[in-house]
Amino acid sequence: MRKGYFITLEGPDGAGKTTQLARLLAAAAEAGVPVVTTREPGGTAVGDAVRGILLDPQYGEIVPLTEALLYAASRAQLVQEVIKPALTAGKLVLCDRFIDSSLAYQVYGGGLDFDFVWRTNLAAVDGCLPDKTFVLNIEPQVGLARRGAAAADRMEQKPLAFHQRVQQGFLQLAERFPERLTVVEADRPADEVFAEIWRQAAPHVAALR
Ligand code: TMP
Repeated sequence: MRKGYFITLEGPDGAGKTTQLARLLAAAAEAGVPVVTTREPGGTAVGDAVRGILLDPQYGEIVPLTEALLYAASRAQLVQEVIKPALTAGKLVLCDRFIDSSLAYQVYGGGLDFDFVWRTNLAAVDGCLPDKTFVLNIEPQVGLARRGAAAADRMEQKPLAFHQRVQQGFLQLAERFPERLTVVEADRPADEVFAEIWRQAAPHVAALR
């Protein structure tokens, strides 16, 4: 029986998800709530191995279908090994990317069929959809520039037009799933972004105490 609360952070590369996840973790811990944080792709030994393949620039030839199945495989392992047990134990689960990244990147970015990717991923998550998803919205040029001097991974190396479709894809997903997805403008100070997220998350987090 599921008792916890599941929050995912989504958005184009460089939107500041990792920073906001750390802020959420700190706020939840301060509120005395048991919390588990994880990320995709990865979050398990198997998932981290899959992540290595997906992000390694030497595998430039991975086609969108293979990509989608590898992301779904990493997700299936994460759900069974980490997310479901934590939710069953009544914990707050914070995940850096989840199912909506596959829709934004592999469907809107990569051109795969929406229903195919959605159904594949519904099977992968085994009924475990997020309770709340915050989409951190940022122009891809701004997001990719924020990465600074770090070497671009295989996804970040895709053309700007791909990343623009991804950004638009996230916004379309927010229209399609308005109950679950909330868009938060991310091109502003991290404090402001967090205040907006926390305003909506705090009551659900407090309920887990
Ligand atoms: P990260 O840089 O946020 O750790 O994410 C890794 C990259 O993988 C990022 O460019 C987004 C991409 N991605 C997908 O294309 N599909 C997915 O389902 C997930 C979870 C990530």
